[in-house]
Amino acid sequence: MKKIVPTLIALIGIGILSSSCAMMEFASRSDGKIKQIKIGVTIYQMEDPFISTIPDYIGNIAKTKELTKNMKITVNVMDAKGNQNLQNDQVDKFLAQNYDVICVNMVDRTAASVIIDRAKAANVPIVFFNREPVEEDMQRWDKLYYVCSLASESANLEGGIVVKIYQADPQKWDKNGDGILQYVILEGEQGHQDSLIRTEVTIKTITEAGIKLEKLSNKTADWQRTQAGVIMSQWLEEFGDQIEMIISNNDNMALGAIDTYQEAQITNVPLIVGIDAIQPALEAIKNGMLVGTVLNDAKGQGEAIFELAYALAMDEDPVENPQDISQRYIWIPHSAVTIDNVDEVVQTMGY
Ligand code: BGC
Repeated sequence: MKKIVPTLIALIGIGILSSSCAMMEFASRSDGKIKQIKIGVTIYQMEDPFISTIPDYIGNIAKTKELTKNMKITVNVMDAKGNQNLQNDQVDKFLAQNYDVICVNMVDRTAASVIIDRAKAANVPIVFFNREPVEEDMQRWDKLYYVCSLASESANLEGGIVVKIYQADPQKWDKNGDGILQYVILEGEQGHQDSLIRTEVTIKTITEAGIKLEKLSNKTADWQRTQAGVIMSQWLEEFGDQIEMIISNNDNMALGAIDTYQEAQITNVPLIVGIDAIQPALEAIKNGMLVGTVLNDAKGQGEAIFELAYALAMDEDPVENPQDISQRYIWIPHSAVTIDNVDEVVQTMGY
């Protein structure tokens, strides 16, 4: 951790722009003599609008590194399409083609042992990201790393946005004037480390600030916009304007809820808040449909993933003591996004 932190901080200032293509192979100059490294990336589901931005950031920083180090860096990105067997095959292919390091966004985060055992046998390090393997699996080898952002931190910030927005104008949001915010909550995939923690901590943060809440309903929409839209239609039918707040474990589902209000031509929407800061959510903040989100820093994560992969591919130890498992977890900080700083975030993320 100690060694990599200054590099990461330096990278955050560079401000590399994202490209639009999601499935791609990045490679450039090769004169047959310069040093070459190959990095394989497998993504649980490229249809996920948050996760699909990470390979772009990895590719951009790889291109910059190629130029500064005068070498060839191949970053090959595969879509596992929500299928763990397909992802295992993709890892096998990377290993058979002598990739130097593999970056894995697990389909099923509890199934990492198969991939780990194969990579360990071939002595190819793995950088996991976003979908956290269980600690027992992370203990299997000291060349396993994990890059992510802390779920509790994102939830604290999400709750904090609600507190600030509500307290600035309670009458606007407490539509029936009973001093209690009636809410619904859209939850992510049930097995995902972020879903449970975000749900719990966001609510705790709001109630601890002295705001009274009443839950009307909670449902999982598996991080997905369309599913969230369907659930929201049912809630609108069942609860109508009793709903004063919609908390969502991510932006994509918050956008699904907004779609439903727009289709129903209801303009007086409840207080809606999300997490991720994906591009359409930032637009929704600008047009007043979403009160805020939390930057789940895909760019910072992509850069950290690349820097780890690069160091490992160059046979360097990216941290001081890989035997200390805590050093192999790299946490990228979140920040709150509201109308006050949305333009700044659009710029930083290169949207
Ligand atoms: C994001 C979700 C995303 C999920 C994928 C979470 O951290 O907030 O938007 O669907 O990761 O694993």
